[in-house]
Amino acid sequence: MTPDEVAEFNTSVPEGRARYASGAPVTEILERGLVTVDEASVYAILEGVPALMPELRMVRGEGAPANAANPAGPRQEPWADYWEKVSRHWDDLRPPRRPAPQDIALFEGLVAEGCAGARSARPRALLLGVTPEIATMRWPAGTQLLALDGSAAMIRHVWPRRAVPGAAVVQGSWSAMPIRDATCDIVVGDSSIAHQAYPDTFFAVVGEVGRVLKDGGVLATRAFTRPEEREPVEAIFDDLRNGRIGTLDYCRWRLAAALHGDRATGTRMGDIWDVWEANVPDPGELMRSLGWPQEAARVMENLRGGEAVLIFPTLAELRAGLVEDLEEMACEFPDYEDGDRYPILLLRRKPRSGRRSRA
Ligand SMILES: C[S@@+](CC[C@H](N)C(=O)[O-])C[C@H]1O[C@@H](n2cnc3c(N)ncnc32)[C@H](O)[C@@H]1O
Repeated sequence: MTPDEVAEFNTSVPEGRARYASGAPVTEILERGLVTVDEASVYAILEGVPALMPELRMVRGEGAPANAANPAGPRQEPWADYWEKVSRHWDDLRPPRRPAPQDIALFEGLVAEGCAGARSARPRALLLGVTPEIATMRWPAGTQLLALDGSAAMIRHVWPRRAVPGAAVVQGSWSAMPIRDATCDIVVGDSSIAHQAYPDTFFAVVGEVGRVLKDGGVLATRAFTRPEEREPVEAIFDDLRNGRIGTLDYCRWRLAAALHGDRATGTRMGDIWDVWEANVPDPGELMRSLGWPQEAARVMENLRGGEAVLIFPTLAELRAGLVEDLEEMACEFPDYEDGDRYPILLLRRKPRSGRRSRA
């Protein structure tokens, strides 16, 4: 938008004439904005980052009816809160939660393998999320990187903007990507696709990955999977007390898998906290006995009362959901603790049969 267009839009804000597509009034004035080609919709650019989430779409003029039932503005799902907390404690997170150097070496190798023989001199890569280790990894020569993440807090606090000055970042949804069909050579995600709410969001995201990838383009994704055989929670606490678990990050994900329902139900974060609290009434004492710093117990705190649900598919469930547009090329496992639960898959976009496009 030109400065004049922004100024004109801003005059409508105090009058309550600017609305989100949901009908809720816009309450913040725009500093900069983008307007759609049909001039009907406006998206804010916040601190240099286009906010292209569908629920942040603003409608100009008479386009959107007022919605008295929703005066609070765009809907905030439980995940928004969670990622806000995670963004503030990002530096405390450890593998397997964050990718280990070994994961990054696997990602680099798989992406290079997937792009070998590809003709694009400037491959376009889409990063699902803002994981700094992936953003700063070695990409094929000439790669243009775009990161897409739904959390403004994660973009603000975690995206390594100074380390990747040539890359772009956009706030947007993976299930409605603001990206044209068949324009990406590479899509990479760390523990991203597998954990989407099942089935609707998962299949929407997989469909979007298939839509934006060029024929022959590749997806490399790490997943947190749960084993086919459920392990008893007691066995996990027994391993923890006896020094057989390396960090609480491994412990937390084992608990998540052990408490998991079916794929649609997953594990409520607050339930992991409740089991932890019941089994470890004095975390300080446990940290001392294991010789771990007191702050190590903090990684469990983010789960307390959390309503967000973690989905850990089995590897077979994950594979079964990916096959429509994609073909598996490789599956690698890191050799750190429980590495068999954290595969990195490389998949290639199957050729489209005839022309197909989606609105
Ligand atoms: C890539 S994932 C995982 C990164 C890291 N390994 C971890 O476990 O935290 C985390 C990011 O994905 C983003 N995210 C998750 N689901 C999303 C979706 N459907 N659309 C857009 N962003 C999403 C979250 O906002 C968050 O910043």
